Amino acid sequence: MFTINENYLKLPGSYLFSTIGKKVAEYQAANPEKPIIRLGIGDVTQPLAPAIVEALHKAVDEMGKAESFHGYAPDLGYDFLRHAIAENDYKARGCDISEDEIFVSDGAKSDSGNIQEIFGMDNRVAVCDPVYPVYLDSNVMAGRTGVYREDKGCFDGVIYIPCTEENHFVPEPPKEVPDLIYLCFPNNPTGTTITKEQLQVWVDYANKNGSVIIYDAAYEAYITEEHVPHSIYECEGARTCAIEIRSFSKNAGFTGVRLGFTVVPKDLKCNGTSVRDLWARRHGTKFNGAPYIVQRAGEAVYSEEGKKQLKEQVAYYQRNARVIYDALKDLGYTVYGGVNAPYIWLKTPDHMGSWEFFDYLLDKGNIVGTPGCGFGNCGEGYFRLTAFGSYENTLEAMERIKKL
Ligand code: MLT
Repeated sequence: MFTINENYLKLPGSYLFSTIGKKVAEYQAANPEKPIIRLGIGDVTQPLAPAIVEALHKAVDEMGKAESFHGYAPDLGYDFLRHAIAENDYKARGCDISEDEIFVSDGAKSDSGNIQEIFGMDNRVAVCDPVYPVYLDSNVMAGRTGVYREDKGCFDGVIYIPCTEENHFVPEPPKEVPDLIYLCFPNNPTGTTITKEQLQVWVDYANKNGSVIIYDAAYEAYITEEHVPHSIYECEGARTCAIEIRSFSKNAGFTGVRLGFTVVPKDLKCNGTSVRDLWARRHGTKFNGAPYIVQRAGEAVYSEEGKKQLKEQVAYYQRNARVIYDALKDLGYTVYGGVNAPYIWLKTPDHMGSWEFFDYLLDKGNIVGTPGCGFGNCGEGYFRLTAFGSYENTLEAMERIKKL
């Protein structure tokens, strides 16, 4: 008789955004006339920029001719895209990252779930609380945690780093030293950020203790303030302790196109073994490369036209973030984030629980958001709204909240 990976049974409920999707579908089925505004999952709504569409069309045409057809992509990514990434995302910011340290993938979600595979099962994992659920759930599935304690709302064997109002949502290195540390800045879900000096503290801590930081920088395009680092490699010493994950979803609207990349520097070693080589081995074995047409679209993100158009697209969502932030502030809500990120993190009114507020907002305002407690214990009493809706819907949602 076969057995199953029992670690999966440790996971309470379904994936956060699946649960929300189901709840909203049920509500819509029961109330088909209600015009729901979705500010829950961080999914973009604006169409692909013209430079991207043009690159896609061109690549599709190439695929239709024998002389320019492309089969399997190189498993680590096409050189043209890795080169564009190295030049624009790293060299231009003074970061020492070379093309062969960049691994192109089908998105940051897959990479952030898969990266744990190349580390030992006995590694202690640290995550922020609240946290994007993928980091934690993927380690639970792998068996790197103990059981889930319903009463405490956390897994045994995991180091949770609280990110609260008291510490301005900036995690402090824990006393108990973890081996794998997941950080995400600008942060999902709180929309808050870290300064370069604060990030340097983490890099020094990781180097001193032999830990690895898995740094999710998916929202870096939303940074508006000078002192906020766009990459962990802006910090001294990050090449020996940090992996960085990036996405094309939020800066270029690729949530439905799928493209991302991970940077693993050659200097990151464990007793002489190159972590970069392990990730290359994993990539080669389990992944057949992101599609040619999608990688050509990714290349267009870095063209002059692409950069100009995407700056406007990001500005469109940044304006939504300001609309939400200002409207809620005016109404007396306690609000965080939104300045360097497309997420607004608000305190629920009247001490409502996060799910209670979710139901209230859905029922009374027909607005979908994300309950803070879905991201961890410290998220209880908070709620996340995304700036990725249309401008019109964002304004309408704020009007509805005013009338609650
Ligand atoms: C979110 O809503 O937290 C994000 O859309 C999740 C993701 O990017 O996978």
